[in-house]
Amino acid sequence: MQIGLLGYGTVGKAFYALCEEQPSLTVKSLLTRRPRGLPCQEVDSFDPIRNDPEVDLVVELIGGIHPAYEYIASALRAKKHVVTANKAVVCAYYRELVDLAAKNGVCLRCTAGAGGGIPWLSSIGRIARMDSITAVEGILNGTTNYILSEMTSRNASYAELLKEAQQLGYAEADPTDDVEGYDARRKLVLSANLAFSALIKEQDIPCIGISHMTVADIAWARERGLVWKLNARAEKKEGSVTAFVCPTLFPASTPEAQSNGSANLVSLYAKRIGKQSFFGAGAGGWPTASNVLADCLDISAGASAFYSDRPTTPLSVDNNGEQKTWLFRSYGHYTVRRETAAEALEAYGAVSEADPRALLAYLPYGML
Ligand SMILES: NC(=O)c1ccc[n+]([C@@H]2O[C@H](COP(=O)([O-])OP(=O)(O)OC[C@H]3O[C@@H](n4cnc5c(N)ncnc54)[C@H](OP(=O)(O)O)[C@@H]3O)[C@@H](O)[C@H]2O)c1
Repeated sequence: MQIGLLGYGTVGKAFYALCEEQPSLTVKSLLTRRPRGLPCQEVDSFDPIRNDPEVDLVVELIGGIHPAYEYIASALRAKKHVVTANKAVVCAYYRELVDLAAKNGVCLRCTAGAGGGIPWLSSIGRIARMDSITAVEGILNGTTNYILSEMTSRNASYAELLKEAQQLGYAEADPTDDVEGYDARRKLVLSANLAFSALIKEQDIPCIGISHMTVADIAWARERGLVWKLNARAEKKEGSVTAFVCPTLFPASTPEAQSNGSANLVSLYAKRIGKQSFFGAGAGGWPTASNVLADCLDISAGASAFYSDRPTTPLSVDNNGEQKTWLFRSYGHYTVRRETAAEALEAYGAVSEADPRALLAYLPYGML
């Protein structure tokens, strides 16, 4: 297959190098804003790639929503397969891009968009074909996992560790997407939509990040044998989906509690195969590029559409339903309550008006 590669940054560079080892894949053209001195054709606009009949596959690694969306949509309309690592654009234009791929008889893949180097979305796609997935959840953001792991092991404050994560390159200069849970939420949208053949929208999922976490919160959990993680969870219900992203307390003996540093740990629950978990590097040039390459090889081997041809259903997010256990912290006081996610989130909204630093956490195993 002949590839039109967009972007030559952390992931693009690693992907280019990986392709050189693959006899079935050739990067014919690279869209780049400055010369890179590579043996492929270097172009500074998307048109030559879109208009080249020899390019069968476009690999989008420039990031951001625009012009990535325009390039992906245009490639699909030109009946070229597309692989991207860009969760933001696929999440924002999910239905449109999935439909465009199907309508034009080409494949769209974004496995590196959730879980970086972990074959998470591709495994969801495979499992959803033969079993009924009832829930997906996990630690999907490496930056917040690094901060929370270090807060737990070193007794350091959130502010100190955020600064350290920025110095180490784990967190962006503007860390909002990571620390407020928006990045994890986008990855949850991709995971849930694929698992449940749904069309959930990002903005419908309540999201609480870790920026209010304190050293006292860490100590409170430690005394009770619990460990903090930022967890994103979606469960399929009759006609709807329960979904939220929020700080979550796992017993210290669980794999989730022991997944430290910038790693990701994601799990799915299916009717016949039960729980399956995937652990590994959620980011980084080589791991992410490896998933991009795996998508390209799947397409080269004949993969079609968007992981599966199953029709999608516009399920809405509904956080009513079964009661769960929640921890509220306001003005230094901790209270554990049993209520539905909708009730807990509503109560948290009210509490936060009085105490803007209040915290809500989910206790999947109840109070120990
Ligand atoms: N890095 C990771 O660990 C990771 C993990 C999972 C997913 N991803 C996703 O992978 C994608 C790429 O991430 P990255 O880390 O490789 O980003 P990056 O290092 O910032 O690289 C982006 C590249 O795209 C180029 N670019 C940006 N806008 C462009 C435009 N309009 N036209 C032409 N080139 C353009 C940049 O060019 P200049 O060099 O000229 O600025 C740069 O070379 C993103 O969607 C990201 O979310 C990354």
